[in-house]
Amino acid sequence: APGAQQFIPPDADSLDALRAAAAGCRGCELHGPASQTVFGRGDAHARLVFVGEQPGDMEDQKGLPFVGPAGRLLRRAVDDAGLDPAHIYLTNAVKHFRFELRGKRRIHQTPDRVHIVACRPWLVAEFAQLHPEIVVVLGATAAKALLGPTFRVTRSRGELMPWPASAQHPEDFTRVPVDAAGKRADAPPARLLATIHPSAVLRADDQDKAYEGLVADLTVVARALK
Ligand code: URA
Ligand code: SF4
Repeated sequence: APGAQQFIPPDADSLDALRAAAAGCRGCELHGPASQTVFGRGDAHARLVFVGEQPGDMEDQKGLPFVGPAGRLLRRAVDDAGLDPAHIYLTNAVKHFRFELRGKRRIHQTPDRVHIVACRPWLVAEFAQLHPEIVVVLGATAAKALLGPTFRVTRSRGELMPWPASAQHPEDFTRVPVDAAGKRADAPPARLLATIHPSAVLRADDQDKAYEGLVADLTVVARALK
């Protein structure tokens, strides 16, 4: 698979320009069965960015991320953590819905490494436009996209981390030069926090406890942004 890079206009200078180009992406096989590309949305000046896995069934139909049940739960958690929902940008590691047809039902399938790697250039391009202060990684797929395959959300969740050395190509995430540690000269470097995916909360045996854990992790972010 060729990957998304060749579909990104080198002169794209806004999220809207990226979104328009992403509509025509054929960087991996997932564009075929899905309805449309689901690009990120939200505040272009957001200090806080959420990265999910991939669009779900509802997102695929509407063309917008986090408009289904997981999105509803995430919005409630954002609220309960005291974060301002108006100053957030929401996106996904993979921008087409991967599913398996069972009769007429479309059953979510977790993206493979090949899809994560193919789609990663869009995420990198979004960060280059956004310059967020904190990136919240929701679940294992987003963690794999940004932190590599060995990162374990369960072990490191709720910890505000400096942009980790294990993140590949930290210089991709900014347009200004960075040093070996990924530090930028002109702005505070992005920090990152991993937590569980809202869909995992919905699937948990003890939903209340899982939800409280998500809110606790997001409260760490809210305090850091104060
Ligand atoms: N789950 C995600 O990871 N992203 C969405 O946009 C919706 C559900
Ligand atoms: Fe392109 Fe990503 Fe869609 Fe694959 S999933 S076709 S790389 S936008």
